[in-house]
Amino acid sequence: MSVTIKDIARLAGVSIATVSKVVNNKDFDISEGTRVRVQKIIDEENYRPNSLARSMITKTTKTVGLIIPDVRNPFFTDLARGAEDCAKENGYSLLFCNSDDVLEKEIEYINTLVEKQVDGIVLAGSINRNKALEEKYSVTVPIVSLDRKVYFKGIQATVEIDNVTGAHDAIEYLIQSGHKDILFLSGQEEVDISKDRLIGYKKALEENHIPFNPKCVIFGLYKSEFGYQYIMENDLPKEVTAIFCGNDLIALGVIKALKSKKIKVPKDISIMGFDDISLASINTPELTTVKQPSYEFGYIAVQRLIDIIEGITNRKDKFEIKTELIIRESTAPRRNDTKSDDDVAE
Ligand code: RIB
Repeated sequence: MSVTIKDIARLAGVSIATVSKVVNNKDFDISEGTRVRVQKIIDEENYRPNSLARSMITKTTKTVGLIIPDVRNPFFTDLARGAEDCAKENGYSLLFCNSDDVLEKEIEYINTLVEKQVDGIVLAGSINRNKALEEKYSVTVPIVSLDRKVYFKGIQATVEIDNVTGAHDAIEYLIQSGHKDILFLSGQEEVDISKDRLIGYKKALEENHIPFNPKCVIFGLYKSEFGYQYIMENDLPKEVTAIFCGNDLIALGVIKALKSKKIKVPKDISIMGFDDISLASINTPELTTVKQPSYEFGYIAVQRLIDIIEGITNRKDKFEIKTELIIRESTAPRRNDTKSDDDVAE
C-alpha cells in the first residue's frame, strides 16, 4: 500500500499541514530542522504526493502546454527542448502538442489543454490564421505566443524576432557581396513572418537602388520539399546569382536540387537560409543563414508564462530576441561569368 501524507506526518511527529507545506515549498514559517526531518522521511518512504489532491488545494496543476506547428522542423524541435528545460527547472511539467500548421487542430488542442487544467499555454501558431474567429475566442488561461502572430483573447505576452531586420541583414550582405538579382524563395505568403521577411528584402534592395522585381519572389512552403521541387522543376534565370530562402529547410532542399543539376554552390550561385537549425552547420557546404535562437525562444516564452502564472509579472508585453547573420560556406562574392572547375559542393 502506498504511503500517505498522514503516514509521513505520524513518522515525523508533525501535522499534516506541515508536511503539505514542505511538499508544496510553502515552508517559510517552518524551522530548518523540521523541514529537513520531514523531507528526509519523505525521501526514505518514497512518498509521492497525490497531484490531484495537491492541485485542489493550490488551484494549480504545475503543468503548462506547448503547441507548435511542425514537430519535424528542427527549428521547432529545438524550441520545444528549450521550453521543456525551462518548465522542468521551474518544477513544471510540459504537455506537448503538434498542430500540423492547422488552425482547427490548434484550437482543439487549446480546448484539451484547458480541460486538463494546465496553468497556461505557450503557443507557436499555425500558418493559416482567422482573425475574426480568434478574436471571439477567449482562452481562460494565460497564453504566451511566440514566433508567429495569433489573435486569441487571453494572449498575455509575445516572444518574437524582428523578421524585417533579419531579412534586411541577409539581403544587405548579399548585395555587399556583389549580388543584385536575388531570388526570394519564401514559405507561405499569408503568414506574418513571410510578409515581414519580404519587407526586409525589399527595403535592402531599395536602399541600394536595386529595382524590385516581383517575379523574383516565389511563395511556397516552409519545407525542404518546396526548395527541392522548385529548383528541379524550374530553370533559374541566368542573371540570378543568389537565392534567399525563407528558412533553412527550403535552403537545404535547394542545395540538394542544385547539386543534382551540377550547379555549384557558392561558385555559381549563393544560397542564404533563415533560422540556423542544427543541420545548417553540418551540411556541405555549410549554410550561411540568419540565426534565430530557437532554444532560447522556447525557454524565454515558458519563463514569461511561469512569471505570469506565479504573479511575478502581469505585464502584457512583447519580448524581442535578436537575430544574427551567420556567414558560412554557401555564399560567396558574385560570380564572374567565366566558369572554373573547383567547387565547394559536388
Ligand atoms: O522554419 C520555420 C519558419 O517558420 C521559421 O523561420 C520560423 O520563424 C517559423 O515561423
